[in-house]
Amino acid sequence: MDQTQVPKAGSLEDLMRILHQLFEGDSVNVEEVQSVMESYDTKPQEWMKYAKFDQYRYTRNLVDEGNGKFNLMILCWGEGHGSSIHDHTDSHCFMKLLQGQLKETLFEWPSAKAHGDMVQKSQRLLQENQVAYINDSIGLHRVENGSHTECAASLHLYSPPFQACQTFDQRTGHRNTVKMTFYSKRGERTPFETTISQENN
Ligand SMILES: [Fe+2]
Repeated sequence: MDQTQVPKAGSLEDLMRILHQLFEGDSVNVEEVQSVMESYDTKPQEWMKYAKFDQYRYTRNLVDEGNGKFNLMILCWGEGHGSSIHDHTDSHCFMKLLQGQLKETLFEWPSAKAHGDMVQKSQRLLQENQVAYINDSIGLHRVENGSHTECAASLHLYSPPFQACQTFDQRTGHRNTVKMTFYSKRGERTPFETTISQENN
């Protein structure tokens, strides 16, 4: 599809409808998904019911299971909250800023024989409505809300959906596999015991 034919999303509901169409088939057109997500002009009243913040760490809140093709979720970042360095389990990852700003730092995969600090490739500050894209061939990243006065919220799409990822120690490159859980699903807080191991991405 040519860029001029990419539909514009007038609301979050509209965006979800278009995303379902774009992911009907077996292949993913990254530019197309990115421009549709960019076309949605964030309206807090449309996504507030999914955005549940926690005092101590960022939260992952499921919005839609995308017919098994993708997971759409809202991540809520309190002041100073950040993720570890992590991979994306061979999936596509799109991240759109709904509110505030997020700092994304890209890292190279640590080589098997490397030890010591991981190699930082780049860093950028994502602004409201902007959409970032990453996958494992691009590298690893860390996402942080560097603000100490403003919270941030971001809309993430992962395709295919995944439940575990690897996190990396910046000083040594050592990795851990981490299971990911949801703080809420479709606006409802998930039971406490399932959120204990909550980590990343
Ligand atoms: Fe990520």
